Amino acid sequence: MELLNRVMEAFRQRFGMPPWYVVRAPGRVNLIGEHTDYNDGFVLPMAIDRAVWIALSPLTGPYVTAYSLDFDGMAEFALNDLRHTASGWAEYLKGVAWALQEAGYPLHGWRGVLSGDVPIGAGLSSSAALEMAVARAFAAVSSWEWKPQEMALLCQRAENQWVGVNCGIMDQMISARGKAGHALLLDCRSLEGTLVPLPPATAVVILDTATRRGLADSAYNERRAQCEAAARHFGVPALRDVTLEQFAAKADGLDEVTRRRARHVITENARTLQACEAMQRGDAAQLGALMQASHASLRDDFEVSSWELDVMVACAMEHPACYGARMTGAGFGGCAVALVQAEGAQEFAAQIAATYQARTQRVPAVYISQAADGADVVVMPT
Ligand code: GLA
Repeated sequence: MELLNRVMEAFRQRFGMPPWYVVRAPGRVNLIGEHTDYNDGFVLPMAIDRAVWIALSPLTGPYVTAYSLDFDGMAEFALNDLRHTASGWAEYLKGVAWALQEAGYPLHGWRGVLSGDVPIGAGLSSSAALEMAVARAFAAVSSWEWKPQEMALLCQRAENQWVGVNCGIMDQMISARGKAGHALLLDCRSLEGTLVPLPPATAVVILDTATRRGLADSAYNERRAQCEAAARHFGVPALRDVTLEQFAAKADGLDEVTRRRARHVITENARTLQACEAMQRGDAAQLGALMQASHASLRDDFEVSSWELDVMVACAMEHPACYGARMTGAGFGGCAVALVQAEGAQEFAAQIAATYQARTQRVPAVYISQAADGADVVVMPT
């Protein structure tokens, strides 16, 4: 509500009238299924109660004029003359406009004010939230039907081809398709999704290590290349197609590093399906154990954790209210996620913040998070 009022009020001050629409799109946290999306595998993220908000009204010409309260800056561009300029948040707006137009969607111009509370660069998909909010804004003013799955694919295209980040499909899909109180088991090949409720009496706590990713892009691309090489070795389109038995039978022909990369992906897919079943049974202890195993695999086999993430996960696991914890997102810094007993969540948050700070001399951010709905229109003309 706070951000809703903030963008509406800022719009009114800037343009002298209330906005026609307010849209929002959430960030996400992934409970399990890491580095599996680009292997055609399974992920189990939830949309979080932190989002990008845009208050906007249509313009008559083919222009976008958007003011970001967070960056205290303006993005202005013509929809019939899209060009790259500097890097930065405005490129996400242009990229989404580009991808939508490439796909044949006619776009109406708009002016608007943006603000968000998804921490930037923390691994909670602030970029996907911005992209999905912009797509939702275009859909609202241009009056075509909102198709969450198709929009997520186009926003991924914007990020891959306009912004130049080689991400998978998880972040945009969950920002588009999230549902309050639920995580989404997504098959990243068929894009079939199954909503699963969070286990009763649990809370999801996001633990930001206050470290950022550094060389993440090159390491991410390197991991993707290693996974593709492993899939070629097994003679399949993607590692999703390799069972644990096939892996055991044929892993010897791989070099040691590629073997560990493949083992992470193959075991992580199995864990993610098991985690979904555990959630369907309301089995928090089993879900926690799988998260724990996921962290070990990301740390030892896929090697995308960091000292701070390992410390954070260890701090979380030492607490009696914690069922399980793991690094979340691409890794190399950013956030861990913990599943805890709801009634102990506040105390857990305070305790982990103190222990982590004592061990690392860094001040973490801790968010007790609710699973939220995907991108939507919050205010529209009556
Ligand atoms: C980033 C990417 C996602 C996914 C994760 C790792 O968040 O954007 O597509 O690959 O890393 O699971």
